[in-house]
Amino acid sequence: MSTSSPTESHHPHAGAAVLAELDAGLRASHPCISPKFLYDALGSRLFEAICELPEYYPTRTEASIFARHGAAMAREVGPGRTLIDLGAGNCAKAASLFPLLHPAQYVAIDISADFVRESLERLHQRFPHIEMTALGLDFSNALDLPGVVRREKRLFFYPGSSIGNFTPGQAGAFLRRARAQCDDDGALLIGIDLVKDSATLDAAYDDALGVTAAFNLNILRHVNHLAGADFDVRQWRHSGRYNALESRIEMHLEAREDLTVNWRGGQRAFRAGARIHTENSYKYRQSAAVGLLEQAGFQATGVWTDPAGWFAVIHARAIAP
Ligand code: TRP
Repeated sequence: MSTSSPTESHHPHAGAAVLAELDAGLRASHPCISPKFLYDALGSRLFEAICELPEYYPTRTEASIFARHGAAMAREVGPGRTLIDLGAGNCAKAASLFPLLHPAQYVAIDISADFVRESLERLHQRFPHIEMTALGLDFSNALDLPGVVRREKRLFFYPGSSIGNFTPGQAGAFLRRARAQCDDDGALLIGIDLVKDSATLDAAYDDALGVTAAFNLNILRHVNHLAGADFDVRQWRHSGRYNALESRIEMHLEAREDLTVNWRGGQRAFRAGARIHTENSYKYRQSAAVGLLEQAGFQATGVWTDPAGWFAVIHARAIAP
């Protein structure tokens, strides 16, 4: 098992690059905070709690599709693949597929390699015949796989509808980078959340218990910590609503009153109702998802959905250029 160093750790104060990024977002004409700052230690736990909520259907629905159609997916994928897990986390999703997919190598990529490394050590005990590698990479802007990753029969695994957190343009560019990182025997197994009625979508991103609100608001605590800011969480409210025209959930934090925020090197006044954008979550029609893959050089060869058609898992093969 080989490992590489993590790209980020939880220092008490952010480095210059992080501070500059936060500063630019807070000063922008449409203020924003990057969604990557949602996931500090508490944020990660709150997201795990979101996945347990009755309203948040994506995690559970995707799991049911893997449980029901895993064998069919395995026939499509074939054994001996180099399974490249984009955003591996605790590696549980991929590991549950090992007995079906029989990969030759498992490459777990995440921003935090430390976390992945611990999971991999345990996994390697259970699956000693699978070669395992942990990589600490932020693959959202560039995907350059090092030499330890086998070139042949690469299968990119991108579950959880994380692709929906890119704009469609960014998603296409991301998929083209994945295509460029595999030979003509390459493939992709991806989970994509589908368009559905807006009441279901709204509830999934603004639940009755307020866990999603806490998760979104927690980003302000994290920014206080990273940038020496003085956000008062009580002065803000969570907003998560479906925009049908754009086919996306838009997550914002909205000022409850007129207020001023200070941070290291900056200050800004917000009027009551002013908003800070935190994340988008695009939803696709099945045909649009297949089209997005095709434009990036992948031909869909298998599409599996739940009975209600809320979520799709798609297997796609690299198209020879
Ligand atoms: N990536 C998740 C999604 O799009 C993240 C998420 C769920 C989220 N609920 C949220 C992000 C609320 C911000 C606010 O489903």
